[in-house]
Amino acid sequence: MDLDRAVNVDDLRKLAKKRMPKIAFDFIEGGCDDEDGLTRNERAFRDKAIVPRYMVDVSKRDQTATLFGRTYASPFGISPTGLAALFRPGADMMLAEAARDANLPFVMSGTGTGLIEDLGRVAPDHGWYQLYPARDRKISEDIIRRAHDAGLSTLVVTVDVPAGSKRERNMRNGFTRPLRLSLLTKLDALRYPGWLSDYLKHGMPMFQNWQRYAGPNADADAVATFVSSQTRASVTWKDIEDFRRLWPGNFVIKGIMHPDDALRAAELGVDGLVVSNHGGRQLDRAPAALDVLPAINAAVGDRMTLMLDSGIRRGSDVVIALCMGAKFVFLGRPTLYGAAAGGVPGVARALTIVREELDMTMAQMGAPTLADLGPHFMMWDRPEDLRRNSPGLVSAAE
Ligand code: FNR
Repeated sequence: MDLDRAVNVDDLRKLAKKRMPKIAFDFIEGGCDDEDGLTRNERAFRDKAIVPRYMVDVSKRDQTATLFGRTYASPFGISPTGLAALFRPGADMMLAEAARDANLPFVMSGTGTGLIEDLGRVAPDHGWYQLYPARDRKISEDIIRRAHDAGLSTLVVTVDVPAGSKRERNMRNGFTRPLRLSLLTKLDALRYPGWLSDYLKHGMPMFQNWQRYAGPNADADAVATFVSSQTRASVTWKDIEDFRRLWPGNFVIKGIMHPDDALRAAELGVDGLVVSNHGGRQLDRAPAALDVLPAINAAVGDRMTLMLDSGIRRGSDVVIALCMGAKFVFLGRPTLYGAAAGGVPGVARALTIVREELDMTMAQMGAPTLADLGPHFMMWDRPEDLRRNSPGLVSAAE
């Protein structure tokens, strides 16, 4: 199957799987513990149903979305994903390029394998930066300054990694620090000559943004050791206050799941939240992000911009998240599948698939613009829920 024949995100996933050894694919795919969080994310979307409305003129549809004063082609962007160069060398910049070309935002990971400065050159209007705060405050301050100097509009602070999680696939594959590759893992890599030759040519991916802090001669391994010693420090509210003060642009927290945390963030002048359970990779028993969204929306929806990721695989998932209170959503794995399967064109394919599905869903349900979306489209469990969700419609019918 080539890229054009991939009709959905799952097809891209299969292409990505074919191109890389288990150790790398499992790193994208995996959750933690029993991977219940992954199942819950998927099920949260699958269990929701959209009730269509007909006799609506949907001959023209508009999915453009304005976020922090900038208009994007669609209400979705690309989530930060670390170590992307493991799947394809240069993947970070490929994601950035494809996002720029599609007029969508791309968030560079705090453990990305590209440079902030390159992101500023490649996608100055579409690149955001995600901070993993360092134990050494000066490093975080310097990274924030670099993101600002690179011209990036938005800083995202991820708060849901207070400690490493139990990623059992990685443990079994020996993808640990230090690496403990079994003979089987090595033999498996030999079955993927394209991936292996890239890996041998480029070596272990480097957390480039951190290299300067790890010492002048630090190689990829030394930088990785340095990064793991510096990150995984719990972020506190005091840190959020300080970073908010330092960052003049749009300030976003990623990983908030509780309405009280959302309220506290709003009080500190945070502009937006990405409601997220980190794609099921941190706390396996966390609820699906989609399931906590309505409570967070009720708490702060009128005060800050609510975004969401974790589990979006289809355009209809985007619609559901928007109906339930998100203004914008992000894709983590889907665009990584695209990057692994086919570089920039692969990411572009993932974005096109989701855009076209979103367009089709808007037509099928009778919502020609994003402003039409809301809870009134969501299947009601009881008749009174329909009344609550859509008072105008019910009274018109009475
Ligand atoms: C991630 N995620 C992540 N989040 C973050 O804030 N910083 C990071 O460096 C990473 N790294 C990372 C690597 C990989 C391989 C994956 C799959 C995910 C989480 C990511 O931003 C996002 O929250 C989830 O991927 C969203 O869920 P879906 O779309 O993958 O279901």
